[in-house]
Amino acid sequence: MQSAVVTCFGDTFAGIDPELRPATRPEFGHLQSNLPLRLAGPLGLPPREIGARLIDAVDLGDLVSLELAGAGFLNLTWSPDVLGAVVSDLLTDPHLGVPVPASPRRVVVDYSSPNVAKPMHVGHLRSTVIGDSLARVLAYTGHDVVRQNHLGDWGTQFGMLVEELLGEGLSDPATVADLDMAELLALYQRAKARFDDDPGFADSARRRVVALQSGEPTTLALWQALVDASMAEFEATYGRLGVLLTDDDFDGESRYNPQLPGVVDDLRASGLLTESAGAQVVYPDGFTGRDGAPLPLIVRKADGGFGYAATDLATIRHRVDDLAVNRVVYIVDHRQSQHFEMVFAVARAAGWLPDSVEVQHIGFGTVLGPDGRPFKTRSGETVSLTALLDAAEEAAAASYAGHEVVRAVANAAVKYADLSNNLARDYVFDLTRMSATTGETGPYLQYAHARVCSILAQAPQQAHGINTLSHPAEQRLALELTGFASVVAKVADTLEPHHLTAYLYGLATALTGFYENCPVLKAEGEVRQTRLALCEATRRVLSEGLGLLGIEAPQRM
Ligand code: ARG
Repeated sequence: MQSAVVTCFGDTFAGIDPELRPATRPEFGHLQSNLPLRLAGPLGLPPREIGARLIDAVDLGDLVSLELAGAGFLNLTWSPDVLGAVVSDLLTDPHLGVPVPASPRRVVVDYSSPNVAKPMHVGHLRSTVIGDSLARVLAYTGHDVVRQNHLGDWGTQFGMLVEELLGEGLSDPATVADLDMAELLALYQRAKARFDDDPGFADSARRRVVALQSGEPTTLALWQALVDASMAEFEATYGRLGVLLTDDDFDGESRYNPQLPGVVDDLRASGLLTESAGAQVVYPDGFTGRDGAPLPLIVRKADGGFGYAATDLATIRHRVDDLAVNRVVYIVDHRQSQHFEMVFAVARAAGWLPDSVEVQHIGFGTVLGPDGRPFKTRSGETVSLTALLDAAEEAAAASYAGHEVVRAVANAAVKYADLSNNLARDYVFDLTRMSATTGETGPYLQYAHARVCSILAQAPQQAHGINTLSHPAEQRLALELTGFASVVAKVADTLEPHHLTAYLYGLATALTGFYENCPVLKAEGEVRQTRLALCEATRRVLSEGLGLLGIEAPQRM
């Protein structure tokens, strides 16, 4: 099409993008371009005339047909043979047409990252679900993915927790390591209440922080027990959700503790450090507060403690220097976006983050309750992840009671609802809507997959080959199938999983149109062959696509 533009209208328009979009209605063919309308202004010609001249000049042989429509649109229709050939290729390619990059990158995906002795909440759920899908997509598209679960396992709150344990006579690390999440949370609440009410306790808690930092054995052992107890709980949640994270991926804040003084020293040596009210801070260029004053990144607090930012700076150095990555993506609540922007700016200024390494904060919106406000329990507390997953399983059981797929369906409902929104958007956690077996939901896609599996199971040992795609519904389905590779590449590129959810829903819709119009098992000969081949290709794309979202695709439901 581009060469036709040059042939007709000269070099000025070389390289113009025809901007082919999927046709909005089946009768408009497969793809549409508004190129004639866009050229009308610059050329001073009526769009339909431009379109007619382009159609004359384009030579695509029998592969596609072009038609002029409306005020000056070009409708493009692939020949059924081209579509059939692409689907045949899919069937012989275990990687479903998704290309591997010429130069794969080593990418850290920093995700989930809950905090020790506190239950994971819906924000951590989002990070876990989104990060897991992105880690899968990046790996599938040929990148070397390093998963990093930046556990919040260090900080002043541990002084308080260990002091509380000792005060309650809980000094045996083995007992502490066995506490479950409810007990850990209760411990946290008791410690916090005492810390706020009892100045003597607050003082001992502060001294306990110093003991922890200097590695005093009793304190360290109890801290480790708290970390172990929490990790066991987090791992149970990961297992339940079926995410990729394992204990090898834990790379908590504590491991950076020995590097923190070096971070401060090096920043001072490079002249970036300033003192402000006793704290050591850096003022990165371009960050100002609401009053227009420069905004500090606090690296070391006035009390001598290092904060979250210092740890993230040390983490960047570790990832660049030791893990030798060339891309880092952080999947964290959008409320932390300024923190990351500032940390990135300081790391660049300090020379720790070369231009060759790309860092990105992928923020996401808030999960809302039915009242449209941030999701809370009736008593106003944050909803724990476990409670939420229990509720999702209850909702799934409404349709699949007693069935082994209940957990898979519940996870699909939760994950699909989360991934199908534009990441930045807040969304309402509406279990009834997201667990429905019809409409744009995870369970609906699982059902579409199981249905196609059951058809294929009734025609075992068939050599699946495409002959002619004669019915428009067959062509439609084939057309959808050809889009898989590019949508996966798009998610890898934009890090926006909703393109894949929308694609899979479109595929499932085309599949429904196909069933309504084209009997498969009752068909005969070549038609039956072709339809079975379409079913097989759809089965693979649905299963692989759901897999990339971290959603299981059971064969029977
Ligand atoms: N633990 C933090 C939280 O719960 C998230 C950590 C995100 N990762 C990072 N490198 N800062 O808010």
